[in-house]
Amino acid sequence: MKRDVAIVGAGYVGLPLARVFADAGKLVLLVDVDPDRVAQLNRGESYIEDVPSETLGLMVRDGRIAATTAYGELREADAILVALPTPLSRQREPDLRILIAASTEIAKHLRPGHLVVLESTTYPGTTREQVQPVLEAGSGLQAGKDFHLAFSPERVDPGREDWTMKNVTKVVGGVDEGSTAAAVALYSAAIDVVHPVSSPEAAELTKLLENIFRSVNIALVNELAQLCDRMNIDVWEVIDAAATKPFGFMPFKPGPGLGGHCIPIDPFYLTWKAREYGFYTEFIELAGKVNESMPYYCRSVVSQALNHSRQRSLKGSRILVLGVAYKPDISDTRESPAVKLIGLLQNAGADVDYHDPHVPSFTENGILMSSSPLEPGAYDCVVVVTNHSGIDYDRLVDDANLVVDLRNATGKNGKHSDKVWKL
Ligand SMILES: NC(=O)c1ccc[n+]([C@@H]2O[C@H](COP(=O)([O-])OP(=O)(O)OC[C@H]3O[C@@H](n4cnc5c(N)ncnc54)[C@H](O)[C@@H]3O)[C@@H](O)[C@H]2O)c1
Repeated sequence: MKRDVAIVGAGYVGLPLARVFADAGKLVLLVDVDPDRVAQLNRGESYIEDVPSETLGLMVRDGRIAATTAYGELREADAILVALPTPLSRQREPDLRILIAASTEIAKHLRPGHLVVLESTTYPGTTREQVQPVLEAGSGLQAGKDFHLAFSPERVDPGREDWTMKNVTKVVGGVDEGSTAAAVALYSAAIDVVHPVSSPEAAELTKLLENIFRSVNIALVNELAQLCDRMNIDVWEVIDAAATKPFGFMPFKPGPGLGGHCIPIDPFYLTWKAREYGFYTEFIELAGKVNESMPYYCRSVVSQALNHSRQRSLKGSRILVLGVAYKPDISDTRESPAVKLIGLLQNAGADVDYHDPHVPSFTENGILMSSSPLEPGAYDCVVVVTNHSGIDYDRLVDDANLVVDLRNATGKNGKHSDKVWKL
């Protein structure tokens, strides 16, 4: 069946992207290697919170969205968008194996006039140096001449309702003017504002700049939080006060470390690429170092709190970690600092449970953990790691023996109350 857009990779990016195009009346095909996901999608069942099953079901029933594992069906689509994972290897180097494998498959079904756009976050040069040669070799076609090729970073913030894929400006850079124009035309049909740039490299670096900006600023306040602890100043109060300045300041919040598929990973794509130019991205490395040390620092805060408030050591204490998703009100635990912190507390001999209304279970170091009931009084200490909005924090403080609040979720219950310790 003829399709306007095919999206390869039906995950946190691919599925909401399909919805945006379907909302604009386009016929969308999702291509994914996971047969269970494909079957689920074709039953109209969503596994991504940003796209409710009700909405997806309607779109599947009226034929606007369909899913398949068969790359061959790409032939029937005018445009192919690629939203595949771009992880780091164990040595923290870019791992483009999924992207290259998928490009090899796409190449087999590429035809003249096709538009291919890469949306995965990656280092400058990926589209032209990695994807283009694979597409050309496998298809016998030439980018810029026979088919269009561009990069357009995805900026979705899962769980967010005010800024969505539709109203966040889409940056687009093609390998030539024709490719940029084709990509601008495609996205303009579904997204409010499209911002063309001169090359895929500029578009690739735009996304990395955004994520590095966050990583560096979060590291800055994480460092400040550690200094504030020594100086006996409430870092949250200081950030709130600084945020009253209407220009020249943006508030970032300290916490137990970075999480998710983007901020802990993407900056290192640039660090790796920069080495090719004999260049050392010191801000990125330093921010990574500070942010990665935060779970260790937070373990020491829990230890201090238990010592002083309960006359107990970490070893043998019962601890409830509240929230294991990497940010509020979502179920995603990828790279979550909670997972790291749970491991560190367990290594110190603590008996750790967790409660998360969004995450019924997850696997930590090969061990399956399931969410325990929220019974704060049954624990020596409750550690607030993710500030989900559905929790009654006043009641939590009332019921708990001790709270270590790494997110300022308990607000007014200040650091020096003997029951609540804040980061
Ligand atoms: N999640 C976010 O908030 C977010 C935001 C902006 C950018 N990004 C970037 O977007 C890209 C995709 O991330 P995501 O979070 O959507 O990933 P994801 O893991 O949620 O989804 C990826 C999907 O691709 C499928 N897949 C894996 N290999 C495949 C293959 N060879 N062929 C077809 N399908 C395959 C998987 O089954 C999965 O459904 C990444 O580069 C990420 O950095 C993510």
